[in-house]
Amino acid sequence: MDVIHSVPELRERLRREPNNVFVPTMGNLHEGHIELMRIAKPRAACTVVSIFVNRLQFGPREDYDRYPRTLQSDCDKLRDAGVDVVFVPDEKAIYPEPQTFVVEPSDLQNILEGAHRPGHFRGVATVVLKLFNLVMPHSAIFGKKDYQQYLVLRDMVRQFALPIEIIPADTVRAPDGLALSSRNGYLSAEERSEAPRLYRVLQEVRDGMKAGAHDYQRLELHGMSMLADNGWKPDYVTVRRRSDLRPPVNGEHELVVLAAARLGRTRLIDNIEIDR
Ligand code: PAF
Repeated sequence: MDVIHSVPELRERLRREPNNVFVPTMGNLHEGHIELMRIAKPRAACTVVSIFVNRLQFGPREDYDRYPRTLQSDCDKLRDAGVDVVFVPDEKAIYPEPQTFVVEPSDLQNILEGAHRPGHFRGVATVVLKLFNLVMPHSAIFGKKDYQQYLVLRDMVRQFALPIEIIPADTVRAPDGLALSSRNGYLSAEERSEAPRLYRVLQEVRDGMKAGAHDYQRLELHGMSMLADNGWKPDYVTVRRRSDLRPPVNGEHELVVLAAARLGRTRLIDNIEIDR
C-alpha cells in the first residue's frame, strides 16, 4: 500500500493505474469505513482512499480542532482491507491558496443538516470535486448514514456531467443498533448506552408508517419527544422523500426517515429508508 502526501506524487502513481475506485474519508476509520473499502475493492484494479479533515465543511463552533487524527491505526486498517493507495494531503496541498471558487449545491444544501450547519455542504462538495479532479476515479463510494451528503454529491456529479459513478453504501451498525460514526468516540460510557435510542426512534416511526399511519407529523413529534424525554436535544425527526429530501406528497413510495439530535456535546445523525 502506498501512502502519498503530495499531489504530484499522487498524479504520478495514478497515471500508471487509471482504473481506480475512490473512497474519500476524514480518517478515524471504523468498521463502517472498512465496509466501503470492501464494496470498492472488486470494482477496480486500484482502490484509492483519501484521509483529509476538511476545514471548509466545519462551522466555526464545530469540532474541526478536536476531530480525531489517527493516521497510523487508519493505515493499518486500510492495509488489512487491501487498499492500494492512501492519499493523505496536508492543508496546503489541497488549499495552496484561499479557495475562492466553490461548489454551490442546490437548495438541498439549506434544509435539514444544511439548516443546522450553514455552509457545510458547500465545503463538502468543493473538497470532493477537488479530490475527484486529483484522483480521477470511475466510481466513488459514500455511506448512506450521511444521506444528504450522498444526495448532494450524486446531484453534483450529474449536473457537472462528471464521468464518475456514485455508489451508495448501507449504514453499518453496532449490535445495539447505533450507526457507526467517528463521532461516537466523543460519547461518555453513559451516553454510549443511551445513544441507540436514536435508531429505535427511527424504527418506531417506520413501524408506525408500515402499520398504516398517514399522519407523519404525529409520528415525528412522538419521535422528537421520545428523545427530549431522555435528555437529548433533537434537531429533527422527519419523514422525507428519498429523491430530494422534500416532504412527501400523497402516494410517494420511496421515503426516508431522518433524525439528528444532540446527546451531551455530541450531535448524532441517522436515517432509515422506507418503501411504502
Ligand atoms: O463523509 C466524510 O467523511 C466527508 O464529508 C468527506 C466526504 C470525506 C468530505 O470531506
